[in-house]
Amino acid sequence: MPLSIVYIIGFMGSGKSTAGRKLATSLGWSFIDLDRRIEEKAGKTIPQIFSDNGEEHFRKIESETLRELVSELNTVVSTGGGTPCHGVNMDFMLGTGLTIYLKMTPIQLTSRLLESSGERPLIKNIPDNKLEDFIEDKLAVREKWYLRAKIIVNGMNLDISNLDSQIRLAIAK
Ligand code: S3P
Repeated sequence: MPLSIVYIIGFMGSGKSTAGRKLATSLGWSFIDLDRRIEEKAGKTIPQIFSDNGEEHFRKIESETLRELVSELNTVVSTGGGTPCHGVNMDFMLGTGLTIYLKMTPIQLTSRLLESSGERPLIKNIPDNKLEDFIEDKLAVREKWYLRAKIIVNGMNLDISNLDSQIRLAIAK
């Protein structure tokens, strides 16, 4: 089976959607943002799903929506920060495509998330002065999934053309 799905994974705020979109343009592929697909499917926003139905329900739709993408060809998918860390989603992505982890430090993530914490249900109630500790703890738990990615890159100052070459090389193998 030709490997034609690239999954971008990483913590909230690591720039997965921006990188995914740029990468898709560079490769001449399609782009899908998993969170936006989930919102279309549920007919409500992610914060609404969390508040109306709870996180467990969100994880169920997230896993289902991820599986529905498997027939896509030549597509870059940006996932949510928790996607690889629930159920067997990471195994699923490793088995169906090329996984790329955008790695960042808690300090880098904190400064990016301070700007947009209100849009994210998992951090919206965390005071600014506690955010870095929260990120450090959560990242320590989540990295064991993230680090299973086939390609790991520094998410800061991402070099898209270099990543494009790495993907072409990995796919040609
Ligand atoms: C989540 C990250 C969010 C979204 C949801 C849960 C998480 O996506 O899927 O709020 O568990 O880290 P982003 O990583 O795009 O913020």
